[in-house]
Amino acid sequence: LFYWLNYATGYNDFPSLITANVTMAVIIEKGFFIDVEDYNRTLSQISVVMNEIIKKEMQISGIEFNVFGDTNVNLKQDYTILFSIASCQVTWQLLERAQKEKLVYVAITDPDCPRLPKDAGVSLSLIVPGQELPQIFLDLRTTGVLSWPKVNFIHDDTFDRSKLRICAARDTISRVVKALSVELSDKRLKLSTRALFSTKFEKDKSTMKLRIHKILSDVHVDQLGNCFMVIVTIDMVSTIMEVAKSLKMVHPGSQWLYVISDGASSEVNVTSFLEFLNEGENVAFIYNATSLNPECNMGLMCHIKEMMKALAISLENSLLTELELYDRVTEEEFEVVRLSKTDRKKEIIRSMNKELRKIRSSRVNSCSECVNWRMSSAITWGASFATSAYHQLQRPSSDLGPRNAGYQLIDVGTWIPGLGVNMTEPLFAHVSHGFRGICLPVSSFHNPPWQILKYSKTGLREFTGLTFDILNHLSVKLNFTYKVLLPTNVEASIKALNNNSSFFKNLDVAAMSVMQKVPQEVLELVRSKKVFIAALAASVIEHTRGINFTAYVAVQTYALLSARPKSLSRVFLFMAPYTSETWGCLISSLILIGSILYLMVKFSPRPSDIQDTIGFTTTWQCNWYIYGALLQQGGMHLPKADSARLIIGTWWLVVMVVVATYSGNLIAFLTFPRMDAPIDSVDDLLARSEEFTWAFPNGSSIELYLGALADDDVRYKRLLEGAQRQDPTNPSQALERVKSENYVLIDWRISLAFLMKMDLLDTGTCYFHVSAENFIRENMAMMIAHDSPYLPLINDAIKRMHESGLITKWMSDRTPIKDKCWEGLKINQEATNHKVNMGDMQGIFFVLAIGFSIAVIVINFEFFSHKRKKAAEKNFVQPFVS
Ligand SMILES: *[C@@H]1O[C@H](CO)[C@@H](O)[C@H](O)[C@H]1NC(C)=O
Ligand SMILES: *[C@@H]1O[C@H](CO)[C@@H](O)[C@H](O)[C@H]1NC(C)=O
Ligand SMILES: *[C@@H]1O[C@H](CO)[C@@H](O)[C@H](O)[C@H]1NC(C)=O
Ligand SMILES: *[C@@H]1O[C@H](CO)[C@@H](O)[C@H](O)[C@H]1NC(C)=O
Ligand SMILES: *[C@@H]1O[C@H](CO)[C@@H](O)[C@H](O)[C@H]1NC(C)=O
Ligand SMILES: *[C@@H]1O[C@H](CO)[C@@H](O)[C@H](O)[C@H]1NC(C)=O
Ligand SMILES: *[C@@H]1O[C@H](CO)[C@@H](O)[C@H](O)[C@H]1NC(C)=O
Ligand SMILES: *[C@@H]1O[C@H](CO)[C@@H](O)[C@H](O)[C@H]1NC(C)=O
Repeated sequence: LFYWLNYATGYNDFPSLITANVTMAVIIEKGFFIDVEDYNRTLSQISVVMNEIIKKEMQISGIEFNVFGDTNVNLKQDYTILFSIASCQVTWQLLERAQKEKLVYVAITDPDCPRLPKDAGVSLSLIVPGQELPQIFLDLRTTGVLSWPKVNFIHDDTFDRSKLRICAARDTISRVVKALSVELSDKRLKLSTRALFSTKFEKDKSTMKLRIHKILSDVHVDQLGNCFMVIVTIDMVSTIMEVAKSLKMVHPGSQWLYVISDGASSEVNVTSFLEFLNEGENVAFIYNATSLNPECNMGLMCHIKEMMKALAISLENSLLTELELYDRVTEEEFEVVRLSKTDRKKEIIRSMNKELRKIRSSRVNSCSECVNWRMSSAITWGASFATSAYHQLQRPSSDLGPRNAGYQLIDVGTWIPGLGVNMTEPLFAHVSHGFRGICLPVSSFHNPPWQILKYSKTGLREFTGLTFDILNHLSVKLNFTYKVLLPTNVEASIKALNNNSSFFKNLDVAAMSVMQKVPQEVLELVRSKKVFIAALAASVIEHTRGINFTAYVAVQTYALLSARPKSLSRVFLFMAPYTSETWGCLISSLILIGSILYLMVKFSPRPSDIQDTIGFTTTWQCNWYIYGALLQQGGMHLPKADSARLIIGTWWLVVMVVVATYSGNLIAFLTFPRMDAPIDSVDDLLARSEEFTWAFPNGSSIELYLGALADDDVRYKRLLEGAQRQDPTNPSQALERVKSENYVLIDWRISLAFLMKMDLLDTGTCYFHVSAENFIRENMAMMIAHDSPYLPLINDAIKRMHESGLITKWMSDRTPIKDKCWEGLKINQEATNHKVNMGDMQGIFFVLAIGFSIAVIVINFEFFSHKRKKAAEKNFVQPFVS
């Protein structure tokens, strides 16, 4: 019949629900049952039960089913549904075969079996009430709710206490452990490793404390991880919470899951643990909320009925859909457009799950609603800030009263055998969602470029600057929003600055480093934990009581501000190509060569008839000749002797080299004027300590650094000893001094940059030079209360921001490095654009003028001495000689 139907239906090689009732293979594994009797009973009952349900739930169709007692059924025979009651292993084997044949798979398995994948089938583990824990953890794992890579188990002897169930007890723990570490088909869910610690319940609380203390202090969290699963009775929970807290093992980086194993559900009131919670803890509870009553029906048959019912209803729905489709289209079209076998399978499974949810949550005739576990998660992060801080700021601190931290426990999910876990929130709310979007108070003060606080025209507050860049990023990472609390005087000073900014034309400009001391009021807010963090960058120098610094957010370096080096005088530029030594040598060689030439000419042997060489008869003449040659003026004569000519020839070569070098250098000096040496390092400054005075802002922390370094480094000692103190409130005066005196200002590079920028805006010219060397590094960090649990979290986030280069980018966006002045520092603009002019050769004219003056003096002198001689001759009565 089926083959014929297949043939008849044509396009799809499986029958439509209209043409044939679906067929189902029911496989019942013998090994699933405790004894043969049980098995036989089930076998005989199952057909009856199933037929009953089919008749009851299906009006227009039916299910044809075959019951098999062994698992080697040929599933190829056009089944649509596979229903199995089998052990876990067999079930998963059958799943493979069912998937090959695209069957809808409905399975009932023994406990501790992972549920079938969502789109492959519907499964249920047959739980024995009281032994559901392993299944819970298996479900938590497969659904990804609990994905700890390492688990520390701490369990007590709960299960041992009822003497009857000793075996079951040890069994439960080992089964839980197995559930957490068994390999799953979904490879994304990794195995977790675990360490086991067992303890015992003690009547005496202090003994119990000691025992737990010993166990917990033995846990090496660096190897074993920070995830703890505590499976104990309710009496022990508070003790463990206390001890763990005292050992500082509960913090934002650790997770504690308390599984309260007590059966008596009515007594479990987890709210009582609120008082043991603290800021920043990740604690969750799983507890038994089962209320067993006699009507609870948990047997196999109940589950079979329930599942059959869901199956029947979804099949009917499917059929109705197909019928509807069939009515609308022609027969041929219908064959093309109706669902394929895979799609129909998915459709049926989806609708079955829906039906099951409906049946199970209806709590009428449901088999599994009795067993019920609840999960609660503690909401602690930021709770103490969120509730109290805002309103308390305005009030004097005396009437704060006891801090009512807003910790709470929220229900995050449930577990029932049929549906498994149903989470409405993550088990550890804070691990997944950080601060869960709450609003935290932070504090700050105006301190550009780190924090720029402004009031807009409409009175709105605006916060920008590097620290707010960081805080914004942090708030995204940790999932919180923030509100800035400003102490009254800080707020007043910002308002004043808004109305009144004489030197600081705009508020984004930094003052000198020392102006940026954190106001005491802000420190107090941090210390008293009224704010989550102080969004500011402060120098990490000394420890302030009650306050810790975060990881550094920026590094400040100190630099030297001096006047821009001037170009050197041009008067002696014509002398510049040679050093004075070279000039000296040149003049000496002139004299020396002249003398040698004279000797050579004089003592060269020659025939007697030849006259003395004209023009070389005295040393004077020889020198004159050599001098002429140097200026490339040839003499009238040449010596006759070859030896002397050789000397002159050699000299001409020397002259060529000397002249070429001179003119080459001269051109170079004309185009690139020489500059005064800039102050580019501490060494430069100290080398010219006679010439310069230097200062740093009065009260600057550099004084501390230099003081500390002075013992090791004599340079810093000299720097410190020679330094004056600049009044930091008057930066314009400092700039004036730098411009007009030989005054060097030492401060943060960034402050100097801002000062330069200010001056550039004022004057339009760059008068300053900032040293290339940075000589002391100062870390800047935010502030947080000293015992804040969030410090590692924040440090981690800041470290990531450093690594990703975000902070560097923000920093360069916020600092005015790229203005005209800083560009000018790198290349000397004047030098590159220099045109040679008369001024460059002024020295020559001076020499000429001096020459003229001397000539005039000499001529006058000669004139007068001649005149006097004449006059003397006239007065002298000469004997008349005739
Ligand atoms: C399907 O089953 C119902 C009841 O079990 C029966 O009345 C009906 O004839 C069957 N339909 C087909 C096509 O076999
Ligand atoms: C849960 O509570 C029920 C009812 O009190 C009890 O029968 C069952 O054994 C408990 N489950 C576990 C795992 O203790
Ligand atoms: C749980 O205990 C708290 C006090 O610890 C109490 O206020 C609350 O009503 C209790 N809840 C239940 C359901 O008993
Ligand atoms: C999970 O529980 C919530 C409320 O408790 C319910 O609305 C929702 O339908 C449940 N989800 C599932 C898949 O059962
Ligand atoms: C932030 O917390 C809210 C509230 O719990 C949550 O809905 C949201 O998904 C969280 N955001 C992130 C990015 O974790
Ligand atoms: C503004 O500055 C002037 C002089 O610098 C000062 O006298 C005045 O008090 C300031 N005003 C405010 C509101 O600070
Ligand atoms: C916090 O500061 C104190 C000193 O004030 C220091 O001893 C402690 O180590 C700091 N804590 C952290 C986590 O850096
Ligand atoms: C530096 O400041 C201190 C106190 O703040 C003050 O006593 C001292 O006179 C100041 N020195 C100079 C040179 O301004």
